[in-house]
Amino acid sequence: MKFRAAALAMIALAGCEDETPTGAGLYAAYCAGCHGADARGGAAVSDGVIAPDLTILAKTHGGTFPEAYVMSTIDGYAREQTHGVMPIFGKLLETPLETWVDPDGVPTPTPRALLLLNEYLSGQQES
Ligand code: HEC
Repeated sequence: MKFRAAALAMIALAGCEDETPTGAGLYAAYCAGCHGADARGGAAVSDGVIAPDLTILAKTHGGTFPEAYVMSTIDGYAREQTHGVMPIFGKLLETPLETWVDPDGVPTPTPRALLLLNEYLSGQQES
C-alpha cells in the first residue's frame, strides 16, 4: 500500500515537469499567442499581418490535414511560401527525433515536438 502511494506521488510529480510535453501544452506555450487559444487565428501580428486560422487547414488543403506543410512551416523549411512574420522554433527542433512516415511512405526523422503539435492541430480541424 505504501509503495503504491509513493508510486502515485511520483507519477503526479512527473506530471508537473516539462519533460513530457503534450501537443496542447506546446501549442499553448508557443503558438496560442498569435494563433489564439482556439487556433482560430485573428491576432494582428504586425503591420496588418493577421495570424491565420489553423482550424481550416484540412479544409483548405483538399480535405486532408497537411502534416508535412504544418511541420515544415514550424521548422522554417517552408518559410518562403508562408512566414514573413512567424518565428522559427529552434527549441522545439531540439527535442528527440522520432520516425514519421511522410505521405509518400518515406520514413523521416522528425523532432518529437513537431509531431505532437501536428497531432494536436490535426485534432482541431473543422469537420
Ligand atoms: C509571432 C506570431 C506567431 C507565432 C508565435 C506563431 N505563428 Fe504561425 N503564423 C503566423 C503568421 C503571421 C502566419 C501567416 C504567414 C506569415 O505572414 O508569416 C502564420 C502561419 C502559420 C501556418 C500556415 C497557415 C496557413 O494557413 O497556411 C501554420 C501551420 C502555423 N502558422 C503554425 C504555427 C504553430 C504550430 C505555431 C507554434 C509552434 C505558430 N504558428 C506560432 C504568426 C505566428
